[in-house]
Amino acid sequence: MMIRTVFWKNNTVVMIDQKALPLIERQVVCSNYRQVIAAIKDLTVRGAPAIGVTAAMGAALGAQVLAGEPSEKFQIKFNGICDEIAKARPTARNLFWALERMKQYLDDAILSGVQNLAAELVKEAKRICAEDINVNRQMGRHGSKLFIDGDTILTHCNAGALATAGYGTALGVIRAACEQGKKLHIYVDETRPVLQGARLTAWEMKKEKIPATLVTDNMAGFLMQQGKIDKIIVGADRIAANGDTANKIGTYSLAVLAKAHQIPFYIAAPLSTFDFSLKTGAAIPIEERQADEVTCFRGVQAAPRGMKVYNPAFDVTPAKLISAIITEKGILTRPIGRSIARLRKGII
Ligand code: MRU
Repeated sequence: MMIRTVFWKNNTVVMIDQKALPLIERQVVCSNYRQVIAAIKDLTVRGAPAIGVTAAMGAALGAQVLAGEPSEKFQIKFNGICDEIAKARPTARNLFWALERMKQYLDDAILSGVQNLAAELVKEAKRICAEDINVNRQMGRHGSKLFIDGDTILTHCNAGALATAGYGTALGVIRAACEQGKKLHIYVDETRPVLQGARLTAWEMKKEKIPATLVTDNMAGFLMQQGKIDKIIVGADRIAANGDTANKIGTYSLAVLAKAHQIPFYIAAPLSTFDFSLKTGAAIPIEERQADEVTCFRGVQAAPRGMKVYNPAFDVTPAKLISAIITEKGILTRPIGRSIARLRKGII
């Protein structure tokens, strides 16, 4: 079954309303780029690659009202729209990657004298969307080699079809292994405070009929101690040049636990998530979100009103705790930093 997280339809950007899942399955239709920004900010659409695809489509939407402007004005206004969209969320590299690609595409189109710039930008955004699904399938093909029949796999947050244009990164690898006939069992971390695991990954697993069990985040260590977890796989929001990886808060704790229990810990992420401008993960900007995500549970107040809260949405896992990173180009093995350097030189 194909889950289409975000797509272009009749000059609108249509997305699954991820805030309403799993109880209500509905779509949100954005007819201007400011609605797209709001949808990224409030997590109607979330997950690094999905944010990137949505941002590209939002920029294309913004370009529609510029149609007919002389190219110089078009470019200035389009770049301004991209800069606004770029402020929606700070951590996922794919957001900036997609906007940089849209801006570069426009620069090149103007230089080559392309006429209908607004229409061409829509085509580029649609290409980014289609490429994302292809890249996920490639990651699935590479990464599925790491799983054997009978494996029990733990995953955190949602790195599935909903976090991408479709198929998923970490869940794409799981999907691919299942499509090859391997029997896997997936433990799904609830992923406090926003419950991307309990709401979104659990929803995807049920839809796909992949056997899965939901646990709260604080159960993961006990599961590992009990020998119930063979491998761990998660996605990524940004990967620094040395392989340090930002992903949903709680990922670092899992990596430390995995090391203590000698369990392989895998990241699955496309090249659009890598940020080679950052030497290490210490430079990755970590989003802090609003207090009510922590003080309330699905809208019900759970902590004393006015309680001080710290709510970082992501953490950084040092490369030394990562067994391998699965990309569309292949599997980056340890030492991860050296594999990334080889990848950049085109050796991998
Ligand atoms: O805050 P979110 O839901 O956007 O965070 C998403 C994650 O951390 C995912 O694990 C990550 O983007 C990888 S998705 C393929």
